[in-house]
Amino acid sequence: MQLRADSLRITFVDAAGARFTALDIPRLEAGCGDSLAITGPSGSGKSTLLYALAGLVDDLEGNVAWDETMLMRLPQTARDRWRRENAGFVFQDFHLIAELSPIENVLMPARFALFSASADLKARALNLLDELRVPIARKLSSQLSRGEQQRVAIARALLFDPPIILADEPTASLDAEAANDVSTLLTELAARSGKLVITVSHDERLIERCGARLALEHGRLKQHDVAAVL
Ligand SMILES: Nc1ncnc2c1ncn2[C@@H]1O[C@H](COP(=O)(O)OP(=O)(O)OP(=O)(O)O)[C@@H](O)[C@H]1O
Ligand SMILES: [Mg+2]
Repeated sequence: MQLRADSLRITFVDAAGARFTALDIPRLEAGCGDSLAITGPSGSGKSTLLYALAGLVDDLEGNVAWDETMLMRLPQTARDRWRRENAGFVFQDFHLIAELSPIENVLMPARFALFSASADLKARALNLLDELRVPIARKLSSQLSRGEQQRVAIARALLFDPPIILADEPTASLDAEAANDVSTLLTELAARSGKLVITVSHDERLIERCGARLALEHGRLKQHDVAAVL
């Protein structure tokens, strides 16, 4: 899956009512098997960029093309379907449902896409949890360690085997050992499974394992070259 974004621009209105440029990126390219880290200080536009690339920011100017799909030209429902089929998300605070078991959490995307999960999908979910070393006997996801919870979230992101993984500070609320484990998992998904992994992070140990890094400052690329072609 090849990403090509052109002339990305987002303006927001700040608390005082003034319009400011939250993102201004002339060009960005990345391909499958890449792991790309988006870094920068708080408020520099990292999350905004990640969600813009997934077609989740309505006020985006410019083009986001994933292979031949011009994401922002799709009507909302088609864009939502594209996202469900192509992108898996991982967040800092896991976004698991604490009262559900690990397997139920992994199968959650199927509830939105299908009426019920097929036996094949359940087998796949169990397999993913097994590969990610999650103790599946736990009844509640809240009984898992934080690292295990993040691995459940990664399994959930992988349920439909999407070519793209988008992660927003996936190691920020983990201890060093669990952070290391999650960093390995994410970068291996790019290196071994050929997925395009884009991760927002402040975690130097995760960033240095990514194939490329994109530093933002005030919504702009910090590097002198204005195009990020990775
Ligand atoms: N919907 C919105 N409306 C107005 N301003 C917004 C909106 N979303 C984000 N912003 C502002 O845009 C800027 C970039 O926000 P963003 O969340 O992308 O930063 P970030 O780099 O992810 O920061 P952090 O490291 O703290 O998560 C910030 O100034 C933020 O307050
Ligand atoms: Mg953020």
